Amino acid sequence: MLDSIENVSSLYDRVKRVIPPMEWPAFEGDIEAILRLKRERNAVILAHNYQTPEIFHCVSDIVGDSLKLAREAQFVDADVIVLAGVHFMAETAKLLNPSKTVLIPDMAAGCSLADSITAADVRLMRERYPGVPVVTYVNTSAAVKAESDLCCTSGNARKIVERLVQEGHERVMMIPDEYLAQNIANETGVNIITWAGHCEVHERFTPEQIRELRAENPGIVVLAHPECPPDVVAEADYAGSTAGMSDYVAQNKPGRVVLITECSMSDNVAVHHPDVEFVRPCNLCPHMKRVTLANIRHSLETMTHEVTIDASVADRARQAVERMLAI
Ligand code: 13P
Ligand code: SF4
Repeated sequence: MLDSIENVSSLYDRVKRVIPPMEWPAFEGDIEAILRLKRERNAVILAHNYQTPEIFHCVSDIVGDSLKLAREAQFVDADVIVLAGVHFMAETAKLLNPSKTVLIPDMAAGCSLADSITAADVRLMRERYPGVPVVTYVNTSAAVKAESDLCCTSGNARKIVERLVQEGHERVMMIPDEYLAQNIANETGVNIITWAGHCEVHERFTPEQIRELRAENPGIVVLAHPECPPDVVAEADYAGSTAGMSDYVAQNKPGRVVLITECSMSDNVAVHHPDVEFVRPCNLCPHMKRVTLANIRHSLETMTHEVTIDASVADRARQAVERMLAI
């Protein structure tokens, strides 16, 4: 464990490819304080792949895509979990490890997908399509999860839909991300009922943008997140979750690559691959960017903001997440 400013300075080695030397000193004080506070509070930090490199590489204990963060949250032994990510991720951690104190540095770190649907909407969908199983993206509130049969992430959506078909379902409802649902329908040929929710980061990418990138960067490998519109995914060489994209780079070591997703993702992956050239048109997620070193420090100092889940929805929401993890 790092406990002196001298050691904190040595952390710069991890991020020197993506953080200019003149910016680093501004981070050191908060990093040192966070490392100390984690010990004092017996806390761990779980960080999503879209967090900035100084958070992702310098203070976090567990990093990954939504699926990995959910899986790992179950096994956290520390008293406190700080979720460096957005609110639905903190709720998922609390659902899966309810005896822990789960903190989020900024309560306003939401998600356009989670905001696109309510529990009442899901009940109406069930009335309209009786008997059709409801697969809900983890990017939703616990109240919406509670109305669902099971959850999915971009990392396991295909597997979950295929399992339901094996179990005899001819149609599946996949909510609220319309593009993820359409992309999975295109991949599997399954009849999927969708909802018109979109990720405000990924919906902005266009197929023309990808074609221009290819023209300007011959030989470039294009990796896209499945929250992108299907016509964007059709232009990509590979589509997968944030962990899927990261694994693709590690396994295939492309000479030149572009990740069609949130901006910090390329920085975090580039740190491990000095020989890969990352072309970086990207879109920022304003919700992910609400989390900073300063508010992680404040969160641990003040033990705020604690994420709690209404008892009336917690058990049903947990079941939906646990059914996903079981598959
Ligand atoms: P994954 O990390 O599961 O691919 O999700 C991306 C995302 O948009 C999370 O907010
Ligand atoms: Fe939500 Fe999109 Fe931001 Fe992820 S990137 S938190 S899906 S708005």
